[in-house]
Amino acid sequence: MIELNVNGRKHRVDADPDTPLLWVLRDTLDLKGTKYGCGIAQCGACTILMDGVAQRACVLPLAAVGAARITTIEGLPDKNGKLHRLQQAWIDHQVPQCGYCQAGQIMQAASLLAENPRPSDADIDAAMAGNLCRCGTYVRIRAAIKQAAGLSPRRAVAAARPPEGDAR
Ligand code: FES
Ligand code: FES
Repeated sequence: MIELNVNGRKHRVDADPDTPLLWVLRDTLDLKGTKYGCGIAQCGACTILMDGVAQRACVLPLAAVGAARITTIEGLPDKNGKLHRLQQAWIDHQVPQCGYCQAGQIMQAASLLAENPRPSDADIDAAMAGNLCRCGTYVRIRAAIKQAAGLSPRRAVAAARPPEGDAR
């Protein structure tokens, strides 16, 4: 048995120490917000925080986790369920398109802001460069990070689209 600390809760899992953390998060703990993309640390879809620092869960064996605190996208809201400022900024800027990469993007951004609370555009681009988005949401990702960092005012959410079939 291996003990893991995930989103503030202790879990005991029956798994080989070489098992990548991503497998346990998704298949054992049912935390499916963390996504599988490439499986070789090249896309960032599986990004989680280990003691507050971004890591690629697809190549992180359980043996390397030890007693570290793991945080997934499900663990970002506070105890009362209030969204993390990055999650709110993602909504305000309507960042996701297909959404597949976005949990990893937010976790990478959380790691950036923990280390550098007021990042420049260049800092953001450098920190986020390894998180790929096939839908090309990079401009909105940068804008959302700047809002979350307090470097730009909160963006008002755009009005909802008219319903399908509405001829307006
Ligand atoms: S799935 Fe882990 S980096 Fe792509
Ligand atoms: S929103 Fe589709 S891959 Fe990023």
